[in-house]
Amino acid sequence: SSPPSCLSPPSLPDPTPLFTGKGHILVLNFTTGYNDISPTTDHLGCLNADGAFTLSDCAVFTVADDFPRELTTAEGGVCTFYDDRAPEHLDSYYRKGLHALSCTKEGSTVEGAWRNSFYTIRGFNYPFICIGDFGCLYETKKVPDTEKEVLSVWEYAWGAHQMNGTPGYLQVVWLWDPVKEIAEKSS
Ligand SMILES: *[C@@H]1O[C@H](CO)[C@@H](O)[C@H](O)[C@H]1NC(C)=O
Repeated sequence: SSPPSCLSPPSLPDPTPLFTGKGHILVLNFTTGYNDISPTTDHLGCLNADGAFTLSDCAVFTVADDFPRELTTAEGGVCTFYDDRAPEHLDSYYRKGLHALSCTKEGSTVEGAWRNSFYTIRGFNYPFICIGDFGCLYETKKVPDTEKEVLSVWEYAWGAHQMNGTPGYLQVVWLWDPVKEIAEKSS
């Protein structure tokens, strides 16, 4: 028998082909590093059709194939951090005044709203969802206490003034959980 070849370098995991079509967006605790996160142990909840954090009201989202790769809901809502009507982050030094994720009911027609383009990264074990310039972490105040509780989710930021994000907040990642398309019943 021959020894294992040392010629091929270890290949990076590549979750990018999974981030397509329809899926749930699961909210996981960001423990110590992206590749330490377990989808089971660190699972906290998911996003609902308004883009809010809930325990189990998991909406089905669609990610666009082409740039900008927007997330939309089954109701036709477009998910963005730029809707002025969404709650502002009041405690972040770096994100103060920025808005929570919201999925608008009016589709893309929000006045002046920028589009968010979402992506995932080769090297992650799982398709964690990112925005902007390696923005793969999000902040929320806590885990919902009840099935009814809905909580805002903001973009994460850090810097000299807040080295680990906003004090007292929970840093989370979003895991894309692909949903198989079920053939529609003709009626
Ligand atoms: C998130 O992970 C950290 C680090 O492992 C842990 O201390 C904390 O209790 C976890 N939070 C929740 C809500 O699970």
